[in-house]
Amino acid sequence: MSGAFIVLSERMEVVNGAGNDMKVVHPVNHLTPEEVDRILLENGELERFDELMMYYESALIEVRTKLEVLYKEMTLKKRRNPFESIKSRLKKSTSIYEKLTARGIPFTVDNIEKNLNDIAGVRVICAFIDDIYGIRDALARQDDVEILQEKDYIASPKANGYRSLHIILRVPIYMSQDKKFMNVEVQFRTIAMDFWASVEHRMKYKKVIKNAESISEELKYSADMINQLDRRMLQIRERIAESDEEILEEKQTQTPRISPQIGIQS
Ligand code: GTP
Ligand code: MG
Repeated sequence: MSGAFIVLSERMEVVNGAGNDMKVVHPVNHLTPEEVDRILLENGELERFDELMMYYESALIEVRTKLEVLYKEMTLKKRRNPFESIKSRLKKSTSIYEKLTARGIPFTVDNIEKNLNDIAGVRVICAFIDDIYGIRDALARQDDVEILQEKDYIASPKANGYRSLHIILRVPIYMSQDKKFMNVEVQFRTIAMDFWASVEHRMKYKKVIKNAESISEELKYSADMINQLDRRMLQIRERIAESDEEILEEKQTQTPRISPQIGIQS
């Protein structure tokens, strides 16, 4: 079980981080993109699949644009950047096939849309933890954005030490004739969390690894250090900001010096 499951509104759910779900994994054939295309063609779904991917790609553009607009505004108003970078990716047809098959779900276009939330994925890398929640809140306030799910692995890290905030957004995309609502997974991380995840990812996908246990322990220890570091950096940033404010206040309370030359001339 992955801990508490709180339903906040009709569609929104908050899934407590620390997910250790026991998932049933079905055997998977690793196919080439051409083989996946052939299955779609044989089932008469190739065109619908391409159309669905175009919708997801458009949803990525939509979410990226929203983030870029927030970047512009927050940079101007707060005089610092709310995030360092954004990356986005569309899941490959082979990975989509593998994910559905591993879950024992037939590979059809309807099942892709119904069962997978991470076809369109965006990763936002922030310098500071509070910016992660600031951007999440700003997105949540937008009329046309609905947050369907939130997994807060910062508040409740995974057992291995993994930290990030994952949200599933639902955004409208406007086509020439109609409007579609698409789900997009957004992962927020600090620079330090992202660094950790990229190192840990290398280990996870190795088939054979020596000293796996001690590496895992070291990773868990490093994840906790990174968490401390992230929180300290935030405190340092706040102390610098306070110092700036104090200096500004001091300047403002000093009596202005009036130059004897300036005055009402008779
Ligand atoms: P999957 O999408 O099948 O992984 O299952 P899920 O939706 O239950 O997973 P979750 O939302 O917890 O994580 C989705 C994504 O987060 C993964 O595809 C990874 O990109 C990232 N992620 C989650 N856990 C880890 C982890 O322990 N290590 C690293 N490096 N990345 C992780
Ligand atoms: Mg996922």
